[in-house]
Amino acid sequence: MPEKVTTRTLQQMKTQRQRIVAITAYDYPSAQLADAAGVDVVLVGDSLGNTMLGYDTTLPVQLDEILHHLKAVRRGLTRALLVADMPFLSYGVSVEDAVYHAGKLMQSGAEAVKVEGATPRVLESIRAMVGIGIPVMAHLGLTPQSIHQFGGYRLQGRTASEQEALLHAAEAVQDAGAFSLVLEVIPASLAKRITESLHIPTIGIGAGVHCDGEIQVWHDILGLSEKTFKHTKRYADLRSVITHALRQYADEVRQRQFPTPEHSFELEP
Ligand code: KIV
Repeated sequence: MPEKVTTRTLQQMKTQRQRIVAITAYDYPSAQLADAAGVDVVLVGDSLGNTMLGYDTTLPVQLDEILHHLKAVRRGLTRALLVADMPFLSYGVSVEDAVYHAGKLMQSGAEAVKVEGATPRVLESIRAMVGIGIPVMAHLGLTPQSIHQFGGYRLQGRTASEQEALLHAAEAVQDAGAFSLVLEVIPASLAKRITESLHIPTIGIGAGVHCDGEIQVWHDILGLSEKTFKHTKRYADLRSVITHALRQYADEVRQRQFPTPEHSFELEP
């Protein structure tokens, strides 16, 4: 079996210029499939609010909801590094709360947690979590928990001053002890600058070709999402596949073509 991926593996992959492959997953079968496909990092993202629970944003997602999905993903994974998102309000309010909530995620099978932003409280929380042995993945750029502050899902780092601020924030999360950094929807040239100036790996989504790795949302690349986005590519059209299969099932039941004696049980005379 290929070697277990750890935070150290990701660091080595950056040094050896091997690309890191990451994807979100939210349940047992998708975790098994991601592992079997050789994905390096699986994130139980708070995007599960949109993809699995039907919320408009990630803001309503509760820690308990992440924990529920995390435990299922844990049971399906062997090799990939398992990262759990810290949902809105589970960190960023007080350092104690952040450490406690991150601890709950680790006790439920996460091997690292992810937090958005680089406010002084988030940086302090990263230091405290790392201080008790919890690896932290940082996340900058279009951080969905701040969507209302951004006024929509827009490219971040548009002006020179925003770019300097993002570079500074990236250095700050690294200095606080983050082991990797997700960069979401920022110009490719800025992601390149950040990637080259950090010693920790960067993992992009809508951040161009120069990051050390890429992360995508399960539903987006497999064609389960209703919407399409510029930063994703559909590798399958599962929505059509599933709809077609369900229609065929419904038709066959209605027309008495399924089940047949082949799918039925009878006692021997
Ligand atoms: O919640 C999520 O899925 C994420 C990824 C898009 C990085 O944070």
